[in-house]
Amino acid sequence: MTAKRRPLIAGNWKMNGLQSDGLALAYSVGEYLKAKEDPSFEMLVCPPFTILTATNVVLSDTDVKLGAQNCHTAEKGAHTGDISVAMLAEAGCSYVIVGHSERRTDCGETDEMVCAKAEAANAGGLTAVICIGETEAERDDGKTLDVVKTQIAGSVPGTATAENTVVAYEPVWAIGTGRTPTNDEVQEVHAFIRSELADKLGGDIADGIRLLYGGSMNPGNANDLLALDDVDGGLIGGASLKAADFGAVADCC
Ligand code: 13P
Repeated sequence: MTAKRRPLIAGNWKMNGLQSDGLALAYSVGEYLKAKEDPSFEMLVCPPFTILTATNVVLSDTDVKLGAQNCHTAEKGAHTGDISVAMLAEAGCSYVIVGHSERRTDCGETDEMVCAKAEAANAGGLTAVICIGETEAERDDGKTLDVVKTQIAGSVPGTATAENTVVAYEPVWAIGTGRTPTNDEVQEVHAFIRSELADKLGGDIADGIRLLYGGSMNPGNANDLLALDDVDGGLIGGASLKAADFGAVADCC
C-alpha cells in the first residue's frame, strides 16, 4: 500500500445473504466503520441484488459503500433476468463488480463483454471493479503475465480513470481454496498490471487506480498482502461474510 491511493476493502458476498443474515452483516460492518475515527481506508459491500435496497437503508448513516456483482450493458429493455446500471444506482450502488471469474466461467463472459459492462457502469456513474486473473493451468504453464496482459487489454476501457475504475487481481485457483500466491508473486503481478495500465492509460492514471488482491484473503494473511507496494486493498469473498473477519482484514490497512 502507498499513501497515494486510499485502500479499498471490498466484500463480495456472491450468492450468499438472505435478508435477515445479510442485513445483520451489513449492520455490523457499518458499526465497525462508524467506530473508526477518520479511517485511512474505504469499505465496500457487494450483496446479492435482492437485498441491495434494504442494505442501502441499513448503511445509510455509515460511510460503507454499496456495490453490485454484475450489470447489463443496456440501459433497459428486453433482457430477462438482467439488471441495468440505472437500477443499481437507484438501489444505492456506487460500485459494480464486472468480469468476476465465476461469471466468466458460469456465464461465458468474455473480455469484450466485461469491457462493455465497465463502460456502461462508468456511463451510469458507477465505479467498475474489473476482475482479472489466471487459472491454475495457466499459472503452471508460466502464462500468468500473458493472461493478465490480454485481460487488461480487452477488459479495461480506454476511458478508465482512477475514479471510475478499480482492478482486482484474483488468481482463479486461489478463490475459495485457502491457497494464495506468495507475497512476491502477488507483488510481481500487481506491478505488472500497473505497468500495463500505464501503457494503456498513461502513468498518472495508472498510479491512481487501485489494485485489489482477491483469493482467500483472510485475517491471517491480509497484513502481509496489504503491505505490498502495489496492493491497494482486497476483494474478499468468504472472509467478508463474517463481520469480525472482514473488520480484522480492514484493521490491517
Ligand atoms: P474468497 O475470498 O472466498 O477466496 O473469494 C475471493 C473472491 O472471489 C472475491 O471476489
